[in-house]
Order: sequence, then structure tokens, then C-alpha cells
Amino acid sequence: MVRRRRVGIAISGGGSNMAALVAAARAADYPAEVALVVSNRPDAGGLAKAAAAGVPTAVVDHKAFGDRQAFEIALHAEMVRHDVELVCLAGFMRLLTPWFIESWMDRMINIHPSLLPAFPGLHTHARALAEGVKLAGCTVHFVRHAMDTGPVVGQAAVPVLSADTPETLAARVLAAEHRLYPRCLALVASGRAAVVREGGTERVAIAAEPPPPEAFVWPSRD
Ligand code: GAR
Repeated sequence: MVRRRRVGIAISGGGSNMAALVAAARAADYPAEVALVVSNRPDAGGLAKAAAAGVPTAVVDHKAFGDRQAFEIALHAEMVRHDVELVCLAGFMRLLTPWFIESWMDRMINIHPSLLPAFPGLHTHARALAEGVKLAGCTVHFVRHAMDTGPVVGQAAVPVLSADTPETLAARVLAAEHRLYPRCLALVASGRAAVVREGGTERVAIAAEPPPPEAFVWPSRD
């Protein structure tokens, strides 16, 4: 029997990556279950998709809080209330404070629509086209303090075509995101992907097999 880690997915928009994770988690042998989909925007299209899929949803509207940390305390409380063990950011468009990042150290992953460390931040596809790169793609990484940094779990590359616009490139990358994110979440939730720290640097080592349950020490939240 596979141990299914409880995942909280944070979204801000349409939630197509969230839907890909929910679909993957329907398989009985998938090592994660979606315990919560939470949005900082009450009008996020992904909320209805999650509810239609039978996943618990919540809204923590950042505009209702006086400062970033008060918002994050409420977001954290929602995760804890749903016994979330691992957070997936999936088109979640809020910068996080060190407090939240430390609270979920090694237990929070993000998907970004570029081959990091190239093109962190916004407007990645327009910037990739402006640079004339021939490969674009997406990255799933553990979340660290600087935006769009952290040890890489996995990447997928797609070609950049001469006729591409930011929109056509975004669509090609998004299709790759939907394949990549479920595979990376499975690696992390099963314990196959682990952060290795050596000489002041960090990277993710991928084991061929999941560790036996007694050897799998899940990073502590406390
Ligand atoms: C995705 O392309 C995701 O990689 C990107 O927002 C989109 C969300 O789409 N995230 C970021 O840019 C975060 N830096 P979705 O809501 O349909 O999953």
C-alpha cells in the first residue's frame, strides 16, 4: 500500500496545473492526495474546477489582511487545518515571506514557466523570445527565499519556433508543465527526490526507488 502524502495546492488563477495534479492523484498508486486547493483570489477559475473534482477548497483573500505575514498566517492555518504535509504552488502569484518559506522548508515546491535559472519572475515567454533562445521550458523546484530559486526537482524543455508569440510559446510550455508537475510531485511525495546539501550548495538527488518507509524521514514542519 503506497503512503499518500497530503498535498495543499495554492493557486491564483485558472488552475490548469492544479487540475493536472488532481488528475494524477486519482491513480490508486500515486503517492500523494490533494487535501486542499486554496486561492488568494476569490475569483480564481481553479476553485470551481477543484470543487467539481470533489477536492476541498478555501479562499484566503490577501486583500482582507493588513500585511503579508497576517495573510500567510491564515494561509498556513488553512494548510494545517487540512493536515497538509506538502505544499504545491501552482500559478500562485504572491511573494512569500521568509517565515512561510521556513515553515515549509523542503516541503514546498513550485512550478515556473522557464528553464531556471533563466528568466525568473514575470513575462518569461516574451523575455525568452526577445533573447532569441531556441529552447524554452518549465522547472519544478523546492522553494527558497529568493524568488524562483531553489533546488531543481525536474525540468522539461520545448522548442522555440520562429513564428512563436508569447502566447503560442506559453501554450507549448503549459502543456509541458502539465506533464512535468505530476511527475515531480510523485518524486517528492514518495521520497525519491531529496535535497542534498554539500559544501554550501544544494541540489536534488533522485533515487531509483523510493526509500523503505522506516528510512523515510519526512522533513519536519516544526
Ligand atoms: C503557469 O504557467 C505557471 O507556471 C505560472 O503561472 C501559470 C499558471 O497557470 N506560474 C508562475 O509564473 C509563477 N512564477 P495555471 O493556473 O493554469 O496552472
